[in-house]
Amino acid sequence: MIKLHDLHFKPFISEDEIQATVQHMVTAIANDLQDEVPVFVGILNGSFMFVSDFVKKYPKPCEVTFIKLASYEGLKSTDDIQRLVGLTQDLTGRTVVILEDIIDSGKTLAEVHRIFKNENVKELKIATLFYKPEAYKKDFKLHYVGIEIPNKFIVGYGLDYDGLGRDLPAIYQLKTTQHMTNFVLFGPPGAGKGTQAEFLKEKYSLVHISTGDVFRFNIKNETALGMLAKSYMDKGELVPDQVTIDMLNAEVEKNADAKGFIFDGFPRTNAQAEALDKLMDQKDSQINAMIALEVDDEVLVQRLLERGKTSGRADDADENIIRNRIKEYYKKTAILKDYYSAQDKYYGVDGVGSIEDITERLSAVIDSL
Ligand code: IMP
Ligand code: MG
Repeated sequence: MIKLHDLHFKPFISEDEIQATVQHMVTAIANDLQDEVPVFVGILNGSFMFVSDFVKKYPKPCEVTFIKLASYEGLKSTDDIQRLVGLTQDLTGRTVVILEDIIDSGKTLAEVHRIFKNENVKELKIATLFYKPEAYKKDFKLHYVGIEIPNKFIVGYGLDYDGLGRDLPAIYQLKTTQHMTNFVLFGPPGAGKGTQAEFLKEKYSLVHISTGDVFRFNIKNETALGMLAKSYMDKGELVPDQVTIDMLNAEVEKNADAKGFIFDGFPRTNAQAEALDKLMDQKDSQINAMIALEVDDEVLVQRLLERGKTSGRADDADENIIRNRIKEYYKKTAILKDYYSAQDKYYGVDGVGSIEDITERLSAVIDSL
């Protein structure tokens, strides 16, 4: 991710993909023009990198020139494009190929057509590296289009945001989603994780995704993913991470306008933590923290034994089983503590005290994210 001025951008089109696209365009244009010696006209400033790479790859003799146009944002008239440097040579009878970095509304292209109307060129062709079909409002033909992209703001490879970003060799896309607060909630059995998750989701309008609940929901409702997961469970095998991630993804998608997510019961391994990072990245978001409730073993044992007396849960009645579950918890989560600590995202919170006190401590962490 990169930051230019006040905005964040994420990697969108790699250097390799750009270069392969430029090569495709070169091949198509060289084939069409046969033995013509074309004049390539770049539209400054944005096209300087594209034109440079393009003509370096062009296999036959050609000429290169530039015109410089500027649109004045901030002025009321949206069609106000100024010619800063016009054509400096006579192009009568020549085959001209316009090389544009990007065609958006088509405003610039309209001005290009105005410029060439009286030039008596033999042929005027338009080639653009990037094209936003959803934004295009004109009907000039685009003869060669490198990559069609969604109507989102991009920078790099000649394109700028308020002066910055032209020098980047790859393309980055503006991150548009609102800030979300996403965290992974951990706590040994008996730490009060479920209780706290309930409070926090209300207080911060978050969606609580408990992997156990998600599994049970998918299996009960016989969703495709639920059936897939069940087929592994029936064989006594672990459900592959990808299946779990796909289920979580569906949950995240269902709640596209959430202010954030509390992940509960996932991840359990490094690979899962990485998969979760990737999933959040695809949503233009990220995991902000791993928050772990810390409670002394003896307190946990007492709490669980107490709970066992009233709940009748067999696994809460036997002290050995309880101690074993706590041990398992620390064994499994140690890796994740390391994973999130390495990113400065681990927060341990004292889980002993009144429910309100603990909610307060957790809130202090969340507020700081
Ligand atoms: P059009 O005149 O609306 O087709 O837009 C063309 C010009 O707008 C380009 O030459 C760029 O200067 C600018 N532009 C359009 N979209 C973008 C973008 O996503 N990033 C940076 N500049 C853009
Ligand atoms: Mg341009």
